[in-house]
Amino acid sequence: MSTPGASGMPLLQVENLSTAFRTSRGILRAVDEVSFTLEKGETLGIVGESGSGKSVLVRSIMNILPRTALIPPQTKVILEGKDTRLLSRAEAKHFWGTQIAMVFQDPMTSLNPVKKIGTQITDPLRFHLGMSKSAARARAIELLDLVRIPEPARRLNQYPHELSGGMRQRVIIAIALSCNPKLLVADEPTTALDVTVQKQILDLLENLQRDLNMAMILITHDLGVVAGRADRIAVMYAGRMVETADTKALFRNMRHPYAEALLKSIPRLENPSHTRLDAISGRPPDMVRPPAGCRFASRCRYAQDRCVAELPELTTAGDPDHRFACFFPVGTPEGERALAANLAAGQTATGLDLHAQAVS
Ligand SMILES: Nc1ncnc2c1ncn2[C@@H]1O[C@H](COP(=O)(O)OP(=O)(O)O)[C@@H](O)[C@H]1O
Ligand code: SF4
Ligand SMILES: [Mg+2]
Repeated sequence: MSTPGASGMPLLQVENLSTAFRTSRGILRAVDEVSFTLEKGETLGIVGESGSGKSVLVRSIMNILPRTALIPPQTKVILEGKDTRLLSRAEAKHFWGTQIAMVFQDPMTSLNPVKKIGTQITDPLRFHLGMSKSAARARAIELLDLVRIPEPARRLNQYPHELSGGMRQRVIIAIALSCNPKLLVADEPTTALDVTVQKQILDLLENLQRDLNMAMILITHDLGVVAGRADRIAVMYAGRMVETADTKALFRNMRHPYAEALLKSIPRLENPSHTRLDAISGRPPDMVRPPAGCRFASRCRYAQDRCVAELPELTTAGDPDHRFACFFPVGTPEGERALAANLAAGQTATGLDLHAQAVS
């Protein structure tokens, strides 16, 4: 469904999104100046290790943050040309479920344990779309069928605990799809599921996204998950977007040392997916007191004095769709020289010991 007059406009424009939280230790900068656009029907993969700001980013877009969240006025979230921060209360009430829907990590906490599956699917249909009870029931069966749940009519009378984890996540997806959203946000949708079910759910999301021509934001801590599924990838580190490109371009020419480290940490098939990021030594910075320079500097094998003093902004090198925030990018002469100098010295400008690091 395209809106008349809206063609040619990106589905979603996020400009300068920053989100901080008031905490007992001070202001925690969870997301810092993130900008991107998403076209209709496009899949964007957002990748980064735990705590990098992925969930806060999409929760900021959907306006579902706790009261302690602080968002500066220059942050803009524009859906089909409409500034979502300027929605009236009446508009906002129906906006989120119908335009953008979300699937969370844990299917058990997103479902109400004491309500039947049927009611949980028909409630939003009746609330947002004003459907009658019988029409909503018929649509609920259709939706369960769409997410490939066998015997859909029987499932309507079951409770969440009567279903497996994978089936519960299918129900969540059915609820998310119920009002035909233009954008589906899936925040680590398979992390709580076992490995064999993970692939089934990801395949289901991919097929639905294509068949229904929805845009999708697929969030994961695992670069391997989005490698074959996303049109474009954005890599986040410590609240900032550090590299973004078309998926093929990213894998061909990875420029940011953190993205490179993520790629190297993708294990072979035989390893369990949850241990992957341990391969990058060190920890992300404390977001209450982020460093003045590059936030990856303390863990970066390429780091020079400039990285400690100055915060790199996203820039492009020729291809306007491929942006990265690094002074000494991987695979460039500057990057090669920086790494060679550090290896010769045995350490980086931040004192990271390269003798102790695994040879790449
Ligand atoms: N409600 C909150 N109050 C304070 N800090 C928060 C809150 N929610 C998230 N954070 C912090 O924001 C940062 C980003 O978190 P999050 O977006 O959940 O990371 P990710 O989804 O990438 O694992 C983390 O440092 C986290 O501790
Ligand atoms: S080379 Fe410098 S700017 Fe680039 S990621 Fe490493 S520390 Fe950051
Ligand atoms: Mg998260």
